[in-house]
Amino acid sequence: MHNNPLPRIDENPDIRTLLLPHCRLKQGEIWVDPITGHRVACIDATDACATAELMEKNRAKVAIQDPPYNLIAFETRGSQDYIDWARKWVTTSLNAMEKDASFFVWLGADQRDHFQPLPDFMLLMREFPVQARSYITVRNQRGYGTQKNWMAVRQELLYYVQGSPPFHVEAEYTDIPKVLRGYYKEIGGERTENMERSKRDTIRAGNVWVDIQQVFYRLEENVSGCYAQKPLKSIDRIIRSSSDYGDLIIDFFAHSGTTLLAAEIARRRCFTTDIDPIYCEIAIRRLEHFRATGRTGWQNGHAFEAELPAPIESEKPPIQASLF
Ligand SMILES: C[S@@+](CC[C@H](N)C(=O)[O-])C[C@H]1O[C@@H](n2cnc3c(N)ncnc32)[C@H](O)[C@@H]1O
Repeated sequence: MHNNPLPRIDENPDIRTLLLPHCRLKQGEIWVDPITGHRVACIDATDACATAELMEKNRAKVAIQDPPYNLIAFETRGSQDYIDWARKWVTTSLNAMEKDASFFVWLGADQRDHFQPLPDFMLLMREFPVQARSYITVRNQRGYGTQKNWMAVRQELLYYVQGSPPFHVEAEYTDIPKVLRGYYKEIGGERTENMERSKRDTIRAGNVWVDIQQVFYRLEENVSGCYAQKPLKSIDRIIRSSSDYGDLIIDFFAHSGTTLLAAEIARRRCFTTDIDPIYCEIAIRRLEHFRATGRTGWQNGHAFEAELPAPIESEKPPIQASLF
């Protein structure tokens, strides 16, 4: 069986050295997709000039941001530094959005450290002219924890709007099953049960999503080398519920390029950035790989196999996308 995953890029300086020469973007550069006009930029999300240059006169209908959560990338920084940093990329994001637009942020809560940065970030958002709309929880199928605590199986997604953006509640729902039987209700003279009602297309989507599998190495959409990949299905749900064909979506923390690919599949345009040229290259290659093969990731291979066909030795095991 083909088995050539890439070890975690962020933890392997030697692998970074091998991959960097194969990346088409250097700091400050922008790749423009010749087919649909998506853009990938190797820039810092907090850089007001660089993000303005990326956007030009374009404005986004939806921003989907998935920043590092202050667990790994900011180990040495305190909460206040994290929030000061977040204030900058929230500002660049809002400047890149239409008057009527939706703003989604994935953010973790460290239960070993007063749940930071989630509550601090929620308070930060009060500084901006946006309205809070929902606090969504994605329930993971697998989790982490010890015998001494509840297993952590949730991911948090904050949803804000400015103006009156679209909300297509019909875009998704019956895939989210009810979990309890036996709650009966009479509708139009007919006695119905909870599970049965959940299949009706008039039922509204709830803000706890239990039908999404987080990414792990067996899934086709897996992008080995990445450590924080979001499931395509979650991004697809956000995009379809909050935008229409042809709308522009932004994601300033591209990593494995999930938003770029989801936008392509849903026939939207995406402008995405990452500060790291390797993740920019992976995002572009993932899109190209999808167009060439119809596959959404590499599963047992990786994005640089053309240049590096032999398995790459690493002291650490090839960890796949984890909670972040
Ligand atoms: C949590 S991951 C995003 C995962 C992504 N949603 C996915 O599905 O693959 C965060 C990414 O942000 C990037 N990043 C960190 N700081 C950044 C900054 N200041 N500007 C742009 N990207 C940054 C990291 O390189 C990393 O790839």
